[in-house]
Amino acid sequence: MATINDNYLKLKAGYLFPEIARRVNTFVESNPSANIIKLGIGDVTEPLPEACRTAMIKAVEDMGDRSTFKGYGPEQGYGWLRETIAAQDFQSRGCDIDGSEIFVSDGAKCDSGNILDIFGKNNKIAVTDPVYPVYVDTNVMAGNTGENNDKGEYDGLVYLPISADNNFLADIPTEKVDLIYLCFPNNPTGATATKEYLKAWVDYAKANNAIIFFDAAYEAFITDDSLPHSIYEIEGAKDCAIEFRSFSKNAGFTGTRCAFTVVPKQLTAKAADGSEVELWKLWNRRQSTKFNGVSYIVQRGAEAVYSEAGKAQIKALVNFYLENAQIICNKLTGAGFDVYGGVNAPYIWLKTPHNLSSWDFFDKLLQTTNVVGTPGSGFGAAGEGYFRISAFNSRENVEEAMKRITEQFKA
Ligand code: MLT
Repeated sequence: MATINDNYLKLKAGYLFPEIARRVNTFVESNPSANIIKLGIGDVTEPLPEACRTAMIKAVEDMGDRSTFKGYGPEQGYGWLRETIAAQDFQSRGCDIDGSEIFVSDGAKCDSGNILDIFGKNNKIAVTDPVYPVYVDTNVMAGNTGENNDKGEYDGLVYLPISADNNFLADIPTEKVDLIYLCFPNNPTGATATKEYLKAWVDYAKANNAIIFFDAAYEAFITDDSLPHSIYEIEGAKDCAIEFRSFSKNAGFTGTRCAFTVVPKQLTAKAADGSEVELWKLWNRRQSTKFNGVSYIVQRGAEAVYSEAGKAQIKALVNFYLENAQIICNKLTGAGFDVYGGVNAPYIWLKTPHNLSSWDFFDKLLQTTNVVGTPGSGFGAAGEGYFRISAFNSRENVEEAMKRITEQFKA
Protein backbone atom coordinates (compact mmCIF):
# COMPACT_ATOMS: atom_id res chain seq x y z
CA MET A 1 0.00 0.00 0.00
CA ALA A 2 1.19 3.52 -0.74
CA THR A 3 2.14 5.62 2.25
CA ILE A 4 1.21 9.19 3.07
CA ASN A 5 3.09 12.26 4.16
CA ASP A 6 2.57 11.66 7.87
CA ASN A 7 3.23 15.30 8.62
CA TYR A 8 -0.33 16.02 7.51
CA LEU A 9 -1.54 14.01 10.49
CA LYS A 10 0.10 16.54 12.80
CA LEU A 11 -2.11 19.35 11.49
CA LYS A 12 -4.84 20.61 13.74
CA ALA A 13 -8.36 19.75 12.45
CA GLY A 14 -9.16 21.89 9.41
CA TYR A 15 -7.63 25.04 8.00
CA LEU A 16 -9.05 28.02 9.89
CA PHE A 17 -11.26 29.61 7.25
CA PRO A 18 -12.94 26.42 5.97
CA GLU A 19 -13.57 25.55 9.63
CA ILE A 20 -15.32 28.90 10.13
CA ALA A 21 -17.35 28.32 6.95
CA ARG A 22 -18.33 24.87 8.26
CA ARG A 23 -19.61 26.34 11.55
CA VAL A 24 -21.50 29.10 9.74
CA ASN A 25 -23.11 26.57 7.38
CA THR A 26 -24.23 24.45 10.34
CA PHE A 27 -25.76 27.54 11.94
CA VAL A 28 -27.53 28.53 8.71
CA GLU A 29 -28.96 25.03 8.31
CA SER A 30 -30.83 25.41 11.60
CA ASN A 31 -31.48 29.17 11.11
CA PRO A 32 -32.25 29.47 7.39
CA SER A 33 -33.69 32.97 7.64
CA ALA A 34 -30.65 34.44 9.44
CA ASN A 35 -29.16 37.42 7.61
CA ILE A 36 -25.48 36.55 8.03
CA ILE A 37 -22.84 39.26 7.62
CA LYS A 38 -19.37 37.85 6.99
CA LEU A 39 -16.50 39.84 8.43
CA GLY A 40 -14.40 36.71 8.88
CA ILE A 41 -12.10 35.76 6.02
CA GLY A 42 -10.46 38.79 4.44
CA ASP A 43 -12.19 38.41 1.11
CA VAL A 44 -12.94 41.50 -0.96
CA THR A 45 -16.51 42.36 -1.95
CA GLU A 46 -16.23 45.37 -4.24
CA PRO A 47 -16.00 45.00 -8.06
CA LEU A 48 -12.72 44.85 -9.97
CA PRO A 49 -11.41 48.29 -10.96
CA GLU A 50 -12.60 49.44 -14.37
CA ALA A 51 -9.00 49.79 -15.63
CA CYS A 52 -8.32 46.12 -14.85
CA ARG A 53 -11.56 44.92 -16.42
CA THR A 54 -10.94 46.90 -19.60
CA ALA A 55 -7.40 45.53 -19.88
CA MET A 56 -8.64 41.98 -19.36
CA ILE A 57 -11.39 42.37 -21.96
CA LYS A 58 -8.79 43.63 -24.44
CA ALA A 59 -6.58 40.65 -23.52
CA VAL A 60 -9.45 38.24 -24.18
CA GLU A 61 -9.73 39.81 -27.65
CA ASP A 62 -5.97 39.32 -28.12
CA MET A 63 -6.55 35.62 -27.49
CA GLY A 64 -9.11 35.60 -30.32
CA ASP A 65 -6.66 36.67 -32.99
CA ARG A 66 -3.83 34.41 -34.23
CA SER A 67 -1.44 37.37 -34.47
CA THR A 68 -1.85 38.30 -30.78
CA PHE A 69 -2.79 34.89 -29.36
CA LYS A 70 -0.67 33.65 -26.45
CA GLY A 71 0.09 30.07 -25.50
CA TYR A 72 2.30 29.27 -22.53
CA GLY A 73 3.75 32.43 -21.08
CA PRO A 74 7.06 32.67 -19.21
CA GLU A 75 6.75 30.78 -15.91
CA GLN A 76 8.12 33.86 -14.14
CA GLY A 77 5.56 36.23 -15.63
CA TYR A 78 5.66 38.44 -18.71
CA GLY A 79 8.58 40.84 -18.88
CA TRP A 80 6.29 43.87 -19.29
CA LEU A 81 4.55 43.10 -15.98
CA ARG A 82 7.75 42.28 -14.11
CA GLU A 83 9.41 45.50 -15.33
CA THR A 84 6.36 47.58 -14.44
CA ILE A 85 6.21 46.10 -10.93
CA ALA A 86 9.94 46.64 -10.38
CA ALA A 87 9.74 50.25 -11.55
CA GLN A 88 6.55 51.30 -9.80
CA ASP A 89 6.50 49.28 -6.59
CA PHE A 90 10.21 49.32 -5.87
CA GLN A 91 12.47 51.62 -7.90
CA SER A 92 10.05 54.52 -7.33
CA ARG A 93 10.63 54.01 -3.58
CA GLY A 94 14.39 53.90 -3.97
CA CYS A 95 14.61 50.10 -3.83
CA ASP A 96 17.11 48.61 -6.23
CA ILE A 97 14.92 45.72 -7.43
CA ASP A 98 15.15 44.52 -11.01
CA GLY A 99 12.31 43.06 -13.10
CA SER A 100 14.17 39.74 -13.28
CA GLU A 101 13.90 39.47 -9.48
CA ILE A 102 10.07 39.58 -9.64
CA PHE A 103 8.26 36.24 -9.99
CA VAL A 104 4.59 36.66 -10.91
CA SER A 105 2.34 34.01 -9.41
CA ASP A 106 -1.24 33.10 -8.60
CA GLY A 107 -1.09 34.03 -4.92
CA ALA A 108 0.99 35.16 -1.97
CA LYS A 109 -0.55 32.35 0.07
CA CYS A 110 0.74 29.77 -2.43
CA ASP A 111 4.16 31.40 -2.68
CA SER A 112 4.63 31.76 1.07
CA GLY A 113 3.96 28.03 1.37
CA ASN A 114 5.83 26.92 -1.75
CA ILE A 115 8.98 28.84 -0.84
CA LEU A 116 9.80 26.08 1.64
CA ASP A 117 10.54 23.81 -1.35
CA ILE A 118 13.91 25.50 -1.80
CA PHE A 119 14.97 25.41 1.87
CA GLY A 120 16.54 22.57 3.81
CA LYS A 121 15.08 20.52 6.61
CA ASN A 122 17.19 21.63 9.53
CA ASN A 123 16.36 25.31 9.65
CA LYS A 124 15.22 26.89 12.87
CA ILE A 125 12.04 28.72 12.00
CA ALA A 126 10.47 31.66 13.83
CA VAL A 127 6.87 32.83 13.58
CA THR A 128 4.97 35.37 15.59
CA ASP A 129 2.10 34.18 17.76
CA PRO A 130 -0.60 34.98 16.63
CA VAL A 131 0.31 34.56 12.95
CA TYR A 132 -1.22 33.95 9.51
CA PRO A 133 -1.81 30.19 9.82
CA VAL A 134 -0.40 29.34 6.36
CA TYR A 135 3.15 29.94 7.59
CA VAL A 136 2.76 27.40 10.37
CA ASP A 137 0.70 24.78 8.53
CA THR A 138 3.02 24.69 5.50
CA ASN A 139 5.97 24.10 7.81
CA VAL A 140 4.07 21.27 9.45
CA MET A 141 3.32 19.76 6.03
CA ALA A 142 6.97 20.10 5.04
CA GLY A 143 8.08 18.18 8.12
CA ASN A 144 9.77 21.17 9.70
CA THR A 145 8.01 20.73 13.05
CA GLY A 146 7.25 18.16 15.68
CA GLU A 147 3.80 17.47 17.08
CA ASN A 148 1.27 20.01 18.29
CA ASN A 149 1.89 20.14 22.04
CA ASP A 150 -0.35 20.81 25.03
CA LYS A 151 0.27 24.55 24.69
CA GLY A 152 -1.24 24.38 21.19
CA GLU A 153 2.19 25.02 19.66
CA TYR A 154 4.21 22.87 17.30
CA ASP A 155 7.42 21.51 18.77
CA GLY A 156 10.43 22.75 16.89
CA LEU A 157 9.06 26.16 15.89
CA VAL A 158 10.21 29.32 17.66
CA TYR A 159 7.13 31.33 18.64
CA LEU A 160 7.57 35.08 19.14
CA PRO A 161 4.62 36.35 21.18
CA ILE A 162 2.90 39.55 20.09
CA SER A 163 0.31 41.34 22.19
CA ALA A 164 -0.79 44.79 23.23
CA ASP A 165 2.17 44.71 25.68
CA ASN A 166 4.70 44.91 22.84
CA ASN A 167 2.44 46.80 20.40
CA PHE A 168 2.11 43.54 18.47
CA LEU A 169 5.77 43.83 17.45
CA ALA A 170 7.79 40.73 18.29
CA ASP A 171 11.01 41.17 20.19
CA ILE A 172 14.09 40.31 18.19
CA PRO A 173 15.02 36.76 19.28
CA THR A 174 17.89 36.21 21.61
CA GLU A 175 18.54 32.81 20.06
CA LYS A 176 19.72 32.17 16.51
CA VAL A 177 17.06 31.30 13.95
CA ASP A 178 17.42 30.69 10.22
CA LEU A 179 14.04 31.61 8.74
CA ILE A 180 11.70 34.32 10.03
CA TYR A 181 8.19 35.16 8.88
CA LEU A 182 7.17 38.80 9.20
CA CYS A 183 3.91 40.30 7.93
CA PHE A 184 3.29 44.06 7.80
CA PRO A 185 0.71 45.54 7.84
CA ASN A 186 0.00 42.57 10.01
CA ASN A 187 -2.54 39.87 9.50
CA PRO A 188 -4.25 39.32 11.92
CA THR A 189 -3.51 42.22 14.32
CA GLY A 190 -3.41 45.14 11.87
CA ALA A 191 -0.12 46.34 13.42
CA THR A 192 2.42 48.19 11.31
CA ALA A 193 6.21 48.30 11.38
CA THR A 194 8.42 51.38 11.27
CA LYS A 195 11.65 51.50 9.29
CA GLU A 196 13.60 51.39 12.57
CA TYR A 197 11.83 48.23 13.65
CA LEU A 198 12.45 46.48 10.33
CA LYS A 199 16.06 47.65 10.38
CA ALA A 200 16.52 45.79 13.66
CA TRP A 201 15.25 42.61 11.96
CA VAL A 202 17.46 43.13 8.90
CA ASP A 203 20.48 43.63 11.16
CA TYR A 204 19.58 40.49 13.11
CA ALA A 205 19.09 38.47 9.91
CA LYS A 206 22.38 39.60 8.46
CA ALA A 207 24.26 38.92 11.68
CA ASN A 208 22.78 35.41 11.86
CA ASN A 209 22.75 34.54 8.14
CA ALA A 210 18.99 34.23 8.42
CA ILE A 211 16.37 34.81 5.73
CA ILE A 212 13.28 36.96 6.37
CA PHE A 213 10.08 36.02 4.58
CA PHE A 214 8.36 39.40 4.40
CA ASP A 215 4.65 39.28 3.62
CA ALA A 216 3.56 42.70 2.37
CA ALA A 217 0.19 41.64 0.95
CA TYR A 218 -1.48 44.56 2.75
CA GLU A 219 1.06 47.31 1.95
CA ALA A 220 -1.51 49.30 -0.08
CA PHE A 221 -3.36 50.01 3.16
CA ILE A 222 -0.48 52.06 4.55
CA THR A 223 -1.54 55.70 4.63
CA ASP A 224 1.15 56.92 7.04
CA ASP A 225 3.95 58.16 4.76
CA SER A 226 6.64 57.42 7.33
CA LEU A 227 5.95 53.65 7.21
CA PRO A 228 7.80 51.41 4.75
CA HIS A 229 5.79 49.57 2.07
CA SER A 230 8.58 47.13 1.27
CA ILE A 231 11.35 45.58 3.33
CA TYR A 232 13.75 46.61 0.57
CA GLU A 233 13.32 50.20 1.77
CA ILE A 234 15.60 49.05 4.60
CA GLU A 235 19.31 49.08 3.87
CA GLY A 236 20.73 45.57 3.64
CA ALA A 237 17.37 43.84 3.12
CA LYS A 238 18.36 42.61 -0.34
CA ASP A 239 20.93 40.43 1.39
CA CYS A 240 18.45 38.73 3.68
CA ALA A 241 14.79 39.04 2.58
CA ILE A 242 12.26 37.55 0.22
CA GLU A 243 9.08 39.62 -0.16
CA PHE A 244 5.56 38.42 -0.99
CA ARG A 245 3.04 40.77 -2.58
CA SER A 246 -0.47 40.36 -3.89
CA PHE A 247 -3.07 42.04 -6.07
CA SER A 248 -5.82 40.40 -4.01
CA LYS A 249 -6.45 43.06 -1.45
CA ASN A 250 -5.45 46.27 -3.26
CA ALA A 251 -7.12 45.51 -6.60
CA GLY A 252 -9.75 42.99 -5.56
CA PHE A 253 -8.05 40.00 -7.25
CA THR A 254 -8.94 37.34 -4.64
CA GLY A 255 -11.01 35.54 -7.27
CA THR A 256 -8.92 36.64 -10.24
CA ARG A 257 -5.58 35.46 -8.77
CA CYS A 258 -2.35 37.36 -9.25
CA ALA A 259 0.55 38.06 -6.93
CA PHE A 260 4.32 38.16 -7.02
CA THR A 261 7.37 37.25 -5.01
CA VAL A 262 10.63 39.15 -4.99
CA VAL A 263 13.81 37.09 -4.74
CA PRO A 264 16.89 39.32 -4.99
CA LYS A 265 19.70 37.78 -7.03
CA GLN A 266 22.29 38.37 -4.33
CA LEU A 267 20.36 36.36 -1.74
CA THR A 268 22.10 33.10 -0.83
CA ALA A 269 21.80 30.18 1.57
CA LYS A 270 24.06 27.25 2.35
CA ALA A 271 24.11 23.87 0.58
CA ALA A 272 24.98 20.63 2.41
CA ASP A 273 28.53 20.81 1.04
CA GLY A 274 28.95 24.23 2.64
CA SER A 275 28.80 26.21 -0.61
CA GLU A 276 26.58 29.28 -0.93
CA VAL A 277 23.78 28.95 -3.47
CA GLU A 278 21.71 31.75 -4.99
CA LEU A 279 18.09 31.40 -3.90
CA TRP A 280 16.96 33.16 -7.10
CA LYS A 281 18.29 30.25 -9.15
CA LEU A 282 16.50 27.69 -7.03
CA TRP A 283 13.20 29.57 -7.02
CA ASN A 284 13.48 30.06 -10.78
CA ARG A 285 14.10 26.33 -11.16
CA ARG A 286 11.21 25.50 -8.85
CA GLN A 287 8.76 27.76 -10.63
CA SER A 288 9.85 26.61 -14.12
CA THR A 289 9.22 23.01 -13.06
CA LYS A 290 6.08 23.23 -10.95
CA PHE A 291 4.30 26.30 -12.33
CA ASN A 292 3.18 27.40 -15.78
CA GLY A 293 2.62 31.05 -15.04
CA VAL A 294 -0.42 33.22 -14.54
CA SER A 295 -2.81 33.59 -17.48
CA TYR A 296 -2.00 36.32 -20.01
CA ILE A 297 -5.45 37.84 -19.45
CA VAL A 298 -4.94 38.18 -15.70
CA GLN A 299 -1.42 39.56 -16.09
CA ARG A 300 -2.78 42.26 -18.40
CA GLY A 301 -5.35 43.05 -15.69
CA ALA A 302 -2.55 43.28 -13.11
CA GLU A 303 -0.53 45.54 -15.38
CA ALA A 304 -3.48 47.94 -15.52
CA VAL A 305 -3.21 48.39 -11.74
CA TYR A 306 -0.18 50.57 -12.52
CA SER A 307 -1.86 52.76 -15.18
CA GLU A 308 -2.85 56.27 -14.12
CA ALA A 309 -6.54 55.30 -14.13
CA GLY A 310 -5.75 52.03 -12.34
CA LYS A 311 -3.78 53.77 -9.61
CA ALA A 312 -6.63 56.20 -8.92
CA GLN A 313 -9.22 53.40 -8.86
CA ILE A 314 -7.13 51.24 -6.55
CA LYS A 315 -6.60 54.13 -4.19
CA ALA A 316 -10.36 54.66 -4.04
CA LEU A 317 -10.92 50.95 -3.41
CA VAL A 318 -8.39 50.80 -0.59
CA ASN A 319 -9.78 54.00 0.92
CA PHE A 320 -13.25 52.52 0.85
CA TYR A 321 -12.12 49.53 2.94
CA LEU A 322 -10.09 51.80 5.22
CA GLU A 323 -13.20 53.87 5.87
CA ASN A 324 -14.99 50.64 6.77
CA ALA A 325 -12.14 49.89 9.17
CA GLN A 326 -12.51 53.33 10.72
CA ILE A 327 -16.25 52.82 11.23
CA ILE A 328 -15.60 49.43 12.86
CA CYS A 329 -12.92 50.86 15.16
CA ASN A 330 -15.08 53.83 16.20
CA LYS A 331 -18.21 51.80 16.84
CA LEU A 332 -16.45 49.04 18.75
CA THR A 333 -14.41 51.47 20.82
CA GLY A 334 -17.63 53.33 21.62
CA ALA A 335 -19.18 50.06 22.77
CA GLY A 336 -16.32 49.54 25.20
CA PHE A 337 -14.21 47.03 23.26
CA ASP A 338 -10.40 47.18 23.39
CA VAL A 339 -9.59 47.62 19.71
CA TYR A 340 -6.28 47.49 17.82
CA GLY A 341 -5.23 47.85 14.17
CA GLY A 342 -7.64 49.03 11.49
CA VAL A 343 -5.73 52.22 10.69
CA ASN A 344 -3.10 51.25 8.11
CA ALA A 345 -4.64 47.82 7.73
CA PRO A 346 -7.98 46.22 6.83
CA TYR A 347 -8.09 44.13 10.02
CA ILE A 348 -9.39 45.10 13.44
CA TRP A 349 -8.11 43.04 16.35
CA LEU A 350 -10.08 43.19 19.56
CA LYS A 351 -10.12 41.68 23.00
CA THR A 352 -13.13 39.47 23.52
CA PRO A 353 -15.54 40.88 26.11
CA HIS A 354 -16.19 39.25 29.52
CA ASN A 355 -13.05 37.12 29.12
CA LEU A 356 -14.82 34.88 26.63
CA SER A 357 -12.61 32.47 24.72
CA SER A 358 -12.15 33.36 21.06
CA TRP A 359 -14.40 30.52 19.84
CA ASP A 360 -17.04 31.20 22.51
CA PHE A 361 -17.19 34.82 21.36
CA PHE A 362 -17.37 33.62 17.74
CA ASP A 363 -20.39 31.44 18.59
CA LYS A 364 -22.04 34.13 20.68
CA LEU A 365 -21.60 36.76 17.98
CA LEU A 366 -22.92 34.40 15.33
CA GLN A 367 -25.92 33.37 17.37
CA THR A 368 -26.91 36.76 18.76
CA THR A 369 -25.98 39.11 15.88
CA ASN A 370 -25.50 36.77 12.89
CA VAL A 371 -22.12 38.43 12.33
CA VAL A 372 -19.10 36.27 11.49
CA GLY A 373 -15.58 37.18 12.55
CA THR A 374 -12.40 35.17 13.06
CA PRO A 375 -11.41 33.75 16.45
CA GLY A 376 -7.99 34.99 17.50
CA SER A 377 -6.98 31.54 18.74
CA GLY A 378 -7.19 30.35 15.12
CA PHE A 379 -4.03 32.38 14.53
CA GLY A 380 -2.13 30.75 17.37
CA ALA A 381 -2.28 30.06 21.09
CA ALA A 382 -1.41 33.66 21.98
CA GLY A 383 -4.43 34.82 19.96
CA GLU A 384 -6.74 33.26 22.56
CA GLY A 385 -9.04 35.89 24.02
CA TYR A 386 -8.80 38.00 20.87
CA PHE A 387 -10.98 38.25 17.78
CA ARG A 388 -10.43 39.60 14.25
CA ILE A 389 -12.96 41.65 12.28
CA SER A 390 -12.30 42.20 8.59
CA ALA A 391 -13.14 45.53 6.93
CA PHE A 392 -13.71 43.83 3.58
CA ASN A 393 -17.43 44.18 2.98
CA SER A 394 -20.01 46.62 1.65
CA ARG A 395 -20.63 49.82 3.62
CA GLU A 396 -24.19 48.73 4.25
CA ASN A 397 -23.11 45.41 5.74
CA VAL A 398 -20.39 46.97 7.87
CA GLU A 399 -22.82 49.53 9.29
CA GLU A 400 -25.50 46.93 9.90
CA ALA A 401 -22.98 44.59 11.58
CA MET A 402 -21.76 47.38 13.86
CA LYS A 403 -25.33 48.31 14.76
CA ARG A 404 -26.08 44.73 15.75
CA ILE A 405 -22.84 44.27 17.71
CA THR A 406 -23.07 47.56 19.60
CA GLU A 407 -26.69 46.89 20.53
CA GLN A 408 -25.80 43.43 21.78
CA PHE A 409 -22.61 44.37 23.62
CA LYS A 410 -23.27 47.79 25.13
CA ALA A 411 -20.48 49.30 27.20
C1 MLT B 1 -7.40 36.20 5.83
O1 MLT B 1 -8.58 36.33 6.08
O2 MLT B 1 -6.54 36.08 6.70
C2 MLT B 1 -7.01 36.22 4.40
O3 MLT B 1 -8.07 35.94 3.59
C3 MLT B 1 -5.88 35.38 4.18
C4 MLT B 1 -5.52 35.16 2.77
O4 MLT B 1 -5.47 36.11 2.01
O5 MLT B 1 -5.27 34.01 2.44
